[in-house]
Amino acid sequence: MRNLLVTGGAGFIGANFVHYWMENYPDDRLVVLDALTYAGNLANLAAVQANPHFTFVQGNICDQALVESLLLQHEITTLVHFAAESHVDRSITGPDEFIETNILGTYALLKATKKIWIDTPVSQGQPALEHRFHHVSTDEVYGTLSATDPAFTEATAYAPNSPYSASKAASDHLVRAYHHTYGLAVTTSNCSNNYGPYHFPEKLIPLVIINILHNKPLPIYGDGMQIRDWLYVQDHAYGIDLVLNKGKVGETYNIGGNNEWANINIVQEICHLLEKAFAEDKTLAHKFPQALAAIHQKTETLITYVKDRPGHDRRYAIDATKTNNELGYIPRESFATGIAKTVQWYLANEAWWQAVMDGSYQDWLTQQYV
Ligand code: NAD
Ligand code: DAU
Repeated sequence: MRNLLVTGGAGFIGANFVHYWMENYPDDRLVVLDALTYAGNLANLAAVQANPHFTFVQGNICDQALVESLLLQHEITTLVHFAAESHVDRSITGPDEFIETNILGTYALLKATKKIWIDTPVSQGQPALEHRFHHVSTDEVYGTLSATDPAFTEATAYAPNSPYSASKAASDHLVRAYHHTYGLAVTTSNCSNNYGPYHFPEKLIPLVIINILHNKPLPIYGDGMQIRDWLYVQDHAYGIDLVLNKGKVGETYNIGGNNEWANINIVQEICHLLEKAFAEDKTLAHKFPQALAAIHQKTETLITYVKDRPGHDRRYAIDATKTNNELGYIPRESFATGIAKTVQWYLANEAWWQAVMDGSYQDWLTQQYV
């Protein structure tokens, strides 16, 4: 039995990881530490809140004393670190929080785990426990690719281009240094773009789904030919599971979907999927009367080219050969099944995204790029 501390567990990927873990390892105990920023949402954890093996703590990862007390109180053996400021556009308009949480927050977690797991002597008669600090990072630390460049491997040199990716790169380096210098048992995974349930609607896929339902423009930055490698979020959780159970301490593993799409093509695909959903389920026209699909008009007419993101990376692609070969990682969901599930989830969970949309992020969003 393990005791996990999951930072950022009320966010998109963290919450999906919590659901994955509690289903697959019901004997483990899991504590979520989350500051509940604009991106954190307790509704994402509603399904596990009554589980006696689950504890939620609202707090900041920069609070080293709080983290130390949680490590001791819950006898944490495994820390899985998702908490971050995650949106590239926000890092361009306001980098401070990214430096604070992504760099200083990770540093506080490293200091706390070193102090409790390494520096504090084990009481006499107690066995020394095995520990793990798993750091969740991104493919964006590797920079940008041209259309013909080979995909990023774990050996690709870091070349982050946005304040977000630079802050994640800095945190990756700190994690590496704490292993190399102090022997902290760390692993890191660098993953490509996730999609799926609970995805905050400032990000491309949920934004497009919800705007289609509201008959609002679908903003395409620049020429829309930027490429991302999309992975269903539960497959990210599965990859982290394999790294925790089979990965080598001190190593980095790339996790990706082998699924590259240009932004404009993915937006067109979502338009088609929603039109198909409306054609198959007549109740949707009553539920979402504003949608063009409700009146049999072409959804793609909502596509609107807008000013490009400054410093916009052209292409990301993950080469996950090492993770495939060493850990046996193969994503379980195809893009066709994953995106269909995602569209269905947003159609069935209007209450979730309406509540999120009522938050202040909408004001911020309308000031950007339109
Ligand atoms: P998210 O923005 O949806 O969630 C972040 C969570 O962290 C929120 O619940 C927020 O409240 C919490 N948080 C933020 N600052 C905090 C602080 N100082 N203390 C405690 N909690 C804090 O992010 P996400 O998309 O779920 O990403 C999770 C992690 O995965 C991040 O580290 C991100 O860099 C990484 N990642 C994301 C993707 C992706 O496609 N979204 C891909 C690869 C890697
Ligand atoms: O690659 C992994 C990264 O993926 C994670 O590390 C980040 O946390 C996560 O936010 C995501 O970053 P992106 O910038 O790739 O995701 P986003 O959904 O913001 O944008 C996807 C692409 O779509 C990107 O090329 C920008 C473009 N875009 C985005 C929005 C929100 C648009 O064209 N229009 C939009 O309105």
